Amino acid sequence: MVSAIRSIAILLVIFTVCAHGKPGYGPGEQDWGYVDVRPGAHMFYWLYYTTANVSTYTQRPLVIWLQGGPGASSTGYGNFEELGPVDLYGDHRNWTWVKDMNVLFIDNPVGTGYSYVDNSAYLTATNKEIAMDLVELMKGFYARHPEFETVPLHIFSESYGGKMAPEFALELHYAKKRDEIKSNLVSVALGDPWTSPIHSVLSWAPFLLELGIVDHDGYDAIMKAANFTAELVEQERWIQATEQWGNTQMEVMKASKGVDFYNVLKLTKGDRFKKLMIQTSEERMYRTMVKHDFDEDHDQIAEDLMRGPVAETLGIPSHVKWNSQSAKVFNIHNTDFMKPVIHIVNELLDKTPLKVGVFSGGLDLICATPGTVNWIDKLNWTRRNEYLDAPRNAISVNRVLEGYEKSGGNLTMFWINRSGHMAPADNPAAMSHVLRKLTNYG
Ligand SMILES: *[C@@H]1O[C@H](CO)[C@@H](O)[C@H](O)[C@H]1NC(C)=O
Ligand SMILES: *[C@@H]1O[C@H](CO)[C@@H](O)[C@H](O)[C@H]1NC(C)=O
Ligand SMILES: *[C@@H]1O[C@H](CO)[C@@H](O)[C@H](O)[C@H]1NC(C)=O
Ligand SMILES: *[C@@H]1O[C@H](CO)[C@@H](O)[C@H](O)[C@H]1NC(C)=O
Ligand SMILES: *[C@@H]1O[C@H](CO)[C@@H](O)[C@H](O)[C@H]1NC(C)=O
Ligand SMILES: *[C@@H]1O[C@H](CO)[C@@H](O)[C@H](O)[C@H]1NC(C)=O
Repeated sequence: MVSAIRSIAILLVIFTVCAHGKPGYGPGEQDWGYVDVRPGAHMFYWLYYTTANVSTYTQRPLVIWLQGGPGASSTGYGNFEELGPVDLYGDHRNWTWVKDMNVLFIDNPVGTGYSYVDNSAYLTATNKEIAMDLVELMKGFYARHPEFETVPLHIFSESYGGKMAPEFALELHYAKKRDEIKSNLVSVALGDPWTSPIHSVLSWAPFLLELGIVDHDGYDAIMKAANFTAELVEQERWIQATEQWGNTQMEVMKASKGVDFYNVLKLTKGDRFKKLMIQTSEERMYRTMVKHDFDEDHDQIAEDLMRGPVAETLGIPSHVKWNSQSAKVFNIHNTDFMKPVIHIVNELLDKTPLKVGVFSGGLDLICATPGTVNWIDKLNWTRRNEYLDAPRNAISVNRVLEGYEKSGGNLTMFWINRSGHMAPADNPAAMSHVLRKLTNYG
């Protein structure tokens, strides 16, 4: 009996030490599941163990990927369209981040992707609520995977994720200080971020004018709408500011005849513009922030994949339809949508040991690089001058100039060449540099 118990105990120990994931969808070992971050609020995560040639996966960092929106799914878009091991068509992606590190996709805020709420009352409405839910998710994740508690953790994000990630990192840092959670959080990276929305909106007209995508009349029409958005932000009339952001986008589309908000050089088909113009303003706002592509066939492929074979393989409960609550998620954040989190980035830089990275694709319009440079200039942290005075250096990968970088204090800004909004997919070579700089691998 005793010996039986002992052998069970030994088996358990062996099992824990070797605990690896299970085969999932696509190559490599994986694990996934729900954490109830609050009663009625079920958040989904999907972990890919690194395929690097290491004796244990804990030798490599854990990197979280947070999509934008709010309401865009990390397990869908980030995973299949940007950096996971396979793409939407099942083809292997040779630059997947999984080859170098463990990657954790989180469908956040609740209601996004496979995450769901039992009742709309359980959706979050503020950035702080989102951050607190993510801290709960991590508590649940570490409870299932204590082996990751000491593994360096890096939070990477894109777009609206660049607004959620700073507050998540800050709250995780404070939760650690209060001894509520064990975590080895090291850095947070904001990719083409919506960190100060008004700085992005005000950059559109000059950026498009310089590129020749609009003329002076177009510039004036966009600038007038953007200025009005800025006034509303100044007056803290947040819902009206969100609506006026939508109107400003409309002016951009009219003046440019449908430029792609995610990549100003991307081919635009004539009928896309027509389709956008007949949509309601609410549909258009949702589409530019939550959908990754204006191509409806492409969206359908993603939805069919996530609601079909992926949901089946992962055993997603049948009442959960991927992304079916995401429009609600987007709409309910309309009060918070235009609020900046510059003060949170200041606090990260001044009060925590975390490294902060910002990366921006030069062809992105929605969070255009000039707007990002402008809000970084507004940061008033103690080592601000050290950053501003630092040299700007070339990012060179395999002897190709892929961009530029500038570091001071714990902040590094990366300019990514030949990339739109989706930098991991658009320029994997430059991203491998960003990853190496922040995580030591890539
Ligand atoms: C993996 O690493 C081990 C030890 O460094 C080495 O002997 C082996 O050749 C490597 N395998 C591959 C496929 O690179
Ligand atoms: C991935 O494949 C492409 C096309 O074959 C190649 O140009 C690129 O260098 C490869 N990238 C990596 C990281 O292996
Ligand atoms: C927008 O605001 C700026 C700064 O207040 C002002 O200089 C500019 O003339 C305004 N542009 C338009 C088109 O209203
Ligand atoms: C910056 O990073 C270093 C090393 O991680 C850390 O010691 C320091 O406290 C951080 N914060 C500031 C404000 O420099
Ligand atoms: C930055 O600005 C905020 C609010 O304006 C202020 O409370 C804070 O003290 C400033 N920080 C520094 C380092 O100047
Ligand atoms: C990166 O951008 C700079 C400035 O636009 C340009 O000079 C350089 O040729 C670009 N590099 C590549 C590889 O596209």
